[in-house]
Amino acid sequence: MTDLPFTFTLPMPEVIPSNYDNHIERRLSDLRGQCLDQEAYAAMLAQENSLVYEVYEIKRPEIAGEILMGVSIVHPGKVGREFYMTKGHFHTVINTAELYYCLRGEGFMVMETPEGDTDVQPLSSGRVLYVPPRWAHRSVCTSRQEDLVTFFAYPANAGHDYGTIEQLGFRKLVVDGSRGPEIIDNPRYQEQAAREP
Ligand code: 6PG
Ligand code: NI
Repeated sequence: MTDLPFTFTLPMPEVIPSNYDNHIERRLSDLRGQCLDQEAYAAMLAQENSLVYEVYEIKRPEIAGEILMGVSIVHPGKVGREFYMTKGHFHTVINTAELYYCLRGEGFMVMETPEGDTDVQPLSSGRVLYVPPRWAHRSVCTSRQEDLVTFFAYPANAGHDYGTIEQLGFRKLVVDGSRGPEIIDNPRYQEQAAREP
């Protein structure tokens, strides 16, 4: 890791960074308990532990003042009628924002705060999204054949809190409706929240 200025390229159409430090593959098994249709999930997983999304990270010292960057690629697919998505997370240092620049594909960013505010923003090529501090975020690919590809940057000391989302899920989901992508309330959210001590 250099302290000198550096560049890298995001060659189109693959958009895999010319230099990266870490390549993460997330499969169906990484979304255990997160999907709306648990039966469809179990049946798909029994067939194949499909690749759902990948992340290419450009690492920096995880200290305040540094910025972590990378590319997130969510592949097209569905579990039941729910579109392929990232796990989603709050930042451990919750007062840290994030910038997303969509390079390819179609989808949404599902977001919420601990207080229960929700927001779902469309993503398409050329669109830049600012995720303010305190908003958890999950990328959802709604194209039938094209990956949803975003370049992201966020404070290097932010960290990832997956636990909160793994417990209750997000309040909003993106599913395939009769007229295309539909944003619905997560019926399992209320059930889960009611079970919480
Ligand atoms: C981050 C970014 C982003 C995210 C990927 C994968 O904080 O690192 O939000 O890089 O990690 O889009 O999503 P998950 O981290 O939710 O699996
Ligand atoms: Ni993040």
